[in-house]
Parts: sequence; C-alpha cells; structure tokens
Amino acid sequence: ALPKHVTIKEVGPRDGLQNESDMIRTEDKIDWINLLSQTGLSYIEITSFVHPKWISQLADAIEVAKGIEREKDITYAALVPNKKGLERALEANVDEISVFMSASESHNRKNINKSIEETYPVLEEVVLGAKKQQKSVRGYVSTAFGCPYEGDIDVKDVIQVSKTLFDMGIDELSIGDTIGVANPLQVQHFLTEFREHLPEQKVALHFHDTRGTALANCLVAMELGFDTFDSALGGLGGCPYAKGASGNLATDDLFYMLNGMGIETNIDREKLLQAASFIQSKMKKSLSSHQMQILNQG
Ligand code: HMG
Ligand code: MG
Repeated sequence: ALPKHVTIKEVGPRDGLQNESDMIRTEDKIDWINLLSQTGLSYIEITSFVHPKWISQLADAIEVAKGIEREKDITYAALVPNKKGLERALEANVDEISVFMSASESHNRKNINKSIEETYPVLEEVVLGAKKQQKSVRGYVSTAFGCPYEGDIDVKDVIQVSKTLFDMGIDELSIGDTIGVANPLQVQHFLTEFREHLPEQKVALHFHDTRGTALANCLVAMELGFDTFDSALGGLGGCPYAKGASGNLATDDLFYMLNGMGIETNIDREKLLQAASFIQSKMKKSLSSHQMQILNQG
C-alpha cells in the first residue's frame, strides 16, 4: 500500500544552488529560505559548509544560516564535509549536520578529494562532534544507482558504505541518484535488497531528474513503503563534480503528483509556487520544473 503521508525534504538552497554559476545574493537566498519556511515544509537544507573554493556559490554559508528566520518546527540542515566544516556549521548553529560520500571510489575522490577508506575517519569525527552538540546527523551516499566515471554500481557497495555510516551513528540515510540514471525497475530491485540489511524507516531517497525518471522512481519506492524524498524547488540542482548531474527532482512536481494521489505532505501549493517564482526572479533563467513551465506560460 502507498504511504498516507510523505515527508519532502527541500534541498534547493543547497543542492539546487551549488551548481549555479551566476552568483545569487546572500539576501536573496535568505529571503528565499524564509519563503520556503512558510510553505509547510518541515525540513530545509539551507547551505553547505564545504570549501568555498570548491563551491563558491555557497561561500556565504554562515551569513545565510545566521540571517534566516527560524521556525521552531522546521529542521534547518547543512552539508558538512570535515571538521573545519563542522566548526563553521556549529558557529552558524544549524539544526542538523549532513555528511556525504560516494559509493564509487572515483566520484568520491573527485568530489571530496579522498579515497573511500580515507573518508570514513573524517566523517566519523564530524558525526561524533555533531552528536556531542546534540545535533542530529544525516548521511548521504552518492552515486548509488550509477557513477559518471565507473558506470554501474553494485548494491553491495552501497550497503557497505551505508552500514558504515549507520555504525558511526547517523540518524537518517539519504540514498542519492547523483546523476539521475536510475529507472523504476532498478530502484525496486535495489530497495528490495537494501532493506534486508538496513533500517528502511531511516532511509530517504534523493533522486535527480536528469533523464526524466525521478517521479517514477519515487512511485516505486512508495509502493515498497518508503516515504521520505529529497527534492529541490523548480528542479534546480546538480553536483558540479559529477558531469551531467543537472536537476534535482522538482519539489513542485513531486508535490503535484502526491497531492493528486491524496497523499498528505502538509505543503501549501500557492506558497510553494510563490517561493519558486521568487527564486526564479533572481536568476537569469526560467526554472525547469513542469509546474513552473506551466506557470511561466501564464
Ligand atoms: P581538500 O583540498 O582536500 O581539503 O578538500 P584539505 O582538508 O586538504 O584542506 C585544505 C585547505 O582547505 C585548508 O586550509 C583547510 O582549512 C581548508 P589551509 O590550511 O590550506 O589554509 N578547508 C576548509 N575551509 C572551509 N570549509 C571547509 C574546509 N575544509 C578544508 N569545510 C574538501 C576537501 C572535502 C574540503 C573539498 O573537497 C570540498 O569542499 N568538497 C565539496 C564538494 C561538494 O560540495 N560537492 C557537492 C556536494 S555532494 C552532492 O551534491 C551529492 C548530494 O546531493 C547527494 C547526491 O545527489 O548523490 C549530497
Ligand atoms: Mg544531489
């Protein structure tokens, strides 16, 4: 049976913006996040405390995190790659810390400059440090359904990385289709095997829509009982260290499908589209989601 309620975790201010070459002003990011806070979303990934040279768009992470108005029932999360990032994230007092690594050796190296083995102790230090400050921790495993450098990924490799992250003490795992290659049958086979080894109620799915399969992948995951999905408003997004990793699943498209199916999300459609129109007005392009294309046609 399909879930009655789905939690949408908005990653637009982080995953959505990190691939944008035109700089968005800090105050516009803050205003956008404040609008997102009024939509009914319960979780917003607001920025990332990675090295500013690696992701210059998010170099203003501390200012953004300190500048937004926090709603008390919303979790404001941020990406953290290492101890230095954790120090910055704690200074900015985000609610949740997200560590990240890849299931494939080559994407891990391209993205965070380390082998998988070298990454574990770095992330463990972050997880323990965050826990010490009573922060919840999310762990991402990227390239779970395919790697831009290595192609197919064995689900056993994803399970291995995921288990190690759970052993460190993460509260939730997000499984990433970083370059948007997954298809529904693959997702079905993957999740069926995956949940034999890991706590499925602590797993979110993070689909990119590069090839148009993200909503279909969500449907298959929901049929298996998964009820937490990451998405970015307007379909913004991508990982600059994975060629072709454009476009997260669009929050507005996911919302449209779930709402039509009678699945509760607590999101207000008008406010969601207002927030999308706002960030679109600050960019030199129109947003690519289906809902925004319809809206833009008037
Ligand atoms: P590195 O160059 O190997 O870092 O980068 P290092 O540890 O050797 O340090 C070098 C210098 O950088 C030092 O300064 C550090 O202090 C400084 P120095 O002593 O030379 O003056 N430094 C920092 N400064 C500020 N903040 C920091 C930080 N860390 C070191 N956090 C590093 C390693 C991990 C930092 C780098 O590779 C990096 O920032 N990578 C991030 C890449 C990224 O953000 N990719 C996109 C996010 S992942 C994604 O999109 C996938 C996801 O959406 C899920 C999916 O779709 O699958 C999550
Ligand atoms: Mg992503």
